[in-house]
Amino acid sequence: MEFSPPRLEFSGREPLLFPGLGKVLREPMRYWPPAIVERAALEARAGSTRIALIAEPATVTRILLNRGDQFPRARLHDRILGAAYGENLIRGDRLDWRRQRKEIAQPLTTAYSLEMAPRMRRACMRIMDEWAAAGPDAPIDLLRDARRFALDSLWRCFFASESEAAGGPDPVVEAAALTIDAHRTGTLVEHLADLRPLARRALDRGYAGRGPADLGDARDEAADFNTMLLFLHAGHDNVTATLGWALWLLAHHPEIQQQVREEARAAGSDAGPGAAPLANALILETLRLYPPIMHLIRDVTVDLEVAGATIGAGFTAVLSMYAMHRNRLWWPAPDSFRPERFLGKAGEQARRTMLLPFGAGPRGCIGASFALVELVLAVRLIVARFALAPVPGRALDCRVDWVLRPEGEAPLLARPLA
Ligand code: HEM
Repeated sequence: MEFSPPRLEFSGREPLLFPGLGKVLREPMRYWPPAIVERAALEARAGSTRIALIAEPATVTRILLNRGDQFPRARLHDRILGAAYGENLIRGDRLDWRRQRKEIAQPLTTAYSLEMAPRMRRACMRIMDEWAAAGPDAPIDLLRDARRFALDSLWRCFFASESEAAGGPDPVVEAAALTIDAHRTGTLVEHLADLRPLARRALDRGYAGRGPADLGDARDEAADFNTMLLFLHAGHDNVTATLGWALWLLAHHPEIQQQVREEARAAGSDAGPGAAPLANALILETLRLYPPIMHLIRDVTVDLEVAGATIGAGFTAVLSMYAMHRNRLWWPAPDSFRPERFLGKAGEQARRTMLLPFGAGPRGCIGASFALVELVLAVRLIVARFALAPVPGRALDCRVDWVLRPEGEAPLLARPLA
């Protein structure tokens, strides 16, 4: 029987009358109906607020790519994030967010990320050495180690000197990763508090080879600090979730795991995603099934036609990556794990038109290329060295609290290969 990866079970009933959008985004399964993955759009109300959930790829893309501010990031979105991140340089209501964002995004190119591959590899090697030392029958703490890898790798790539990047992990980085892991089910506010010592250290260090506290020329210390917190969090947390799911899915698909291994061994492990089509497709398929940021929220200021219905100005649009990525209207076998759907010309077309785990457009993720290079590299290094197998009875499940994450205790065995 085909293994079926966990999915969200929605139990809301139409007509959709919500207590408040904040509650719905925190607990989407309770409020949206099962039809969320069968339709292009759904309408709802929360008091006087009119809400449209949109899952049609062309409309979602059109909204995200709009540069004329017809669909600005919703005030609610900034309110939710603002409550956690505080004043920071890329908040929608900062007039200079475009410039500040550009400053942060500048080094985050594919070329920079590929140049950083040896640093990423170092971060991965030390985790793999620990797994090898633990012995073949010791279940590995997948989510803890994915986080330790992701934060260590981010630090090495953006804040460490050449010699530090080649050495052991920075103790402040390691402590931050372990503290966040100990608060696994904590809130974003708690996780950001756990990152404060690291943000202080990062500001003293400077970013991507620039001087201390130089994230632009804001000259605003509190906002600089919050922006650094945002960067450290955004730069490792979603990578942690994606790597956790990807390795776990591979453990359940030994035949795909073997193909990724052969590809990694044939091409050498430093090559970028382009030289590793299957590993790349595996990461894309993982992000399709489990987009960590399930929803993006935009205000609608001009009328929109979606599947024959009008979403008028004044609506709040919930762009649902989850509903779009799992939708029966666009994907064959949407709940199955099939990395091959992202191979070849058709796969490239599907990626470009229907897959949006990083958002898109002026507010899209600035770290998308970096994340893909890092995730593909880590997966290839790991399967080239270990055979991954599930620990019977220890699953990964979905947990949603604004974002979608894996949850589960030590669900994998990593057996060193000869
Ligand atoms: C699998 C990994 C990742 C996923 C799925 C992801 C996804 C996203 C999404 C969906 C957004 C919001 C876009 C919006 O509001 O329209 C975002 C924003 C952001 N991401 Fe990522 N991201 C990932 C990795 C990274 C990495 C590695 C970095 C940095 C190195 C990063 C830095 C940021 C920053 C700074 C923002 C805020 C941009 C803004 O508000 O203008 N992300 N990410």
